[in-house]
Amino acid sequence: MKIVSIVGARPQFIKAAVLSRALKQDHTEILVHTGQHYDDNMSAVFFEQLGITTPEYHLGIGSAPHGKQTGEMLAAIESVLQEENPDWVLVYGDTNSTLAGALAAAKLHINVAHVEAGLRSFNRRMPEEINRVLTDHISTLLLCPSQPAVDNLRTEGITRGVHIVGDVMHDALLWGLNNNPNRTEDVLSQYGLHEKRYLLLTIHRAENADNPQRLGAIIQALNGVEEHVLWPIHPRTQNKMQAYGFQTPDHIRMIEPVGYFEALTLLAHSRRLLTDSGGMQKEAYWLKVPCITLRDETEWVETVDVGWNILVGASPQVITQAIHHWQPAEDHPNIYGDGKAAGKIVKLLELKG
Ligand code: UD1
Ligand code: UDP
Repeated sequence: MKIVSIVGARPQFIKAAVLSRALKQDHTEILVHTGQHYDDNMSAVFFEQLGITTPEYHLGIGSAPHGKQTGEMLAAIESVLQEENPDWVLVYGDTNSTLAGALAAAKLHINVAHVEAGLRSFNRRMPEEINRVLTDHISTLLLCPSQPAVDNLRTEGITRGVHIVGDVMHDALLWGLNNNPNRTEDVLSQYGLHEKRYLLLTIHRAENADNPQRLGAIIQALNGVEEHVLWPIHPRTQNKMQAYGFQTPDHIRMIEPVGYFEALTLLAHSRRLLTDSGGMQKEAYWLKVPCITLRDETEWVETVDVGWNILVGASPQVITQAIHHWQPAEDHPNIYGDGKAAGKIVKLLELKG
C-alpha cells in the first residue's frame, strides 16, 4: 500500500509520528509537510524529538489568511497526489492542512482516511469546525476516538466507513513518557518551578487570541492568582499580546513554545492546566491533571462529563473560582481507548484499501 500523509501544524506532527512508525513497517508512506507551521519550535523540534523522517515533500506554504493558505495548499497537494497516485491520503484533525489534503484527494478520487473524525464543537464560527465537517463528508474512512464522535457523524448522515479506534494522541503520550530523556527536576528547576505548585497556561484559539476582550479577561484572572503561571506562548498569541500592548506581572512567565517532551513534563507536574488547546485537554486527562478550558464549548466532551475538565470561557470570576475551588472527580475511567490506535488504523487501511 502507498499512503500519502498530510501534516502541517504542531499537533499533526505528534499524531503522525506514531502512525508513521506503524505504517512504515509494511507499507510506503510519503510524508507531505504543508509548511503551515514553520518556526523551529513549532515544527523541526517535533521531527527531531519524535524521530519523524524528513518529509518527502515540503510545500513551504506558510502563514496567510484562510482562503489563500488553504487554496495554495490545495493546488500544491494536488500536484503531489498526481505524481504519487497513492492508495490512501491520510489527514489529521481539523486544520487548514487537513481540509486542503482531503479536498485535493477527493477531487482526484483518491480515498481519504480522517484521523479524529466526528469531533464537533457545534460552533461554526470556529475555522476548525468548518474544516472537520467538510473533511468528514469527503472521507472514505472515518477514524473516531470514541462513541460520541460516531453519534455526531450519524446525525449528519455519515454511517459508512466509520470506526472507533481510540486516540492516536494517547499512543503518542505513552511513547513520549517512555522515551522522554529529560529529568523532571531539571525541567522544573530551569523555570524555577516546584512539583504541583504552578499552573500551566496555553492559548492559541482565534476566538481568544484574536479577541482583545477575551484575551484581556483571561490575563486579568491570572494577574490575581498567587501561584506561578508558566505560559509557553504560541506565536499567534505572542503577536497579539504585542499588538494589544498587553503586559503580564512577574508571576506569569511567558516562554517560547516548548518541545513535546518538555510539554509532557511541564503538564504532568503542574497543579492545573489552563488551556484552549484540543490536544492538551486530553493529555491533561491521561496525566490526571485537572483541566480548566478557556472556551465556551469543547469537542472533547467526555473529559467534561467524567469531571476532569471544566469549561470556563473567558470570565475572570469563573476562571478564578475554578483555579482555587474546583475539584476534579475521584473516578478516572478510560475514555479514549487503550493507546493502541495506530495499529488499528493500519489494519483498517489494509482491509479497506
Ligand atoms: C492552527 C490551526 C488550529 C490548531 C493550531 C495548532 C487552522 C485554521 N488552525 O492554528 O486548528 O489548533 O494550528 O497549534 O488550521 N505563526 C508563526 N510561526 C509558525 C506558525 C504560525 O509565527 O510557525 C504565526 C503567524 O503569525 C500565523 C499565526 O501564527 O499567522 C497563526 O498560525 P496558523 O497556522 O494560521 O493558525 P494557528 O493559530 O497556529
Ligand atoms: N505542545 C508542545 N509545546 C508547547 C505547547 C503544546 O509540544 O509549547 C504540544 C501539546 O503537548 C500537544 C500539542 O502540542 O501534544 C497540542 O498542540 P496545540 O495546542 O498547538 O493544538 P491543538 O491540539 O489545539 O490543535
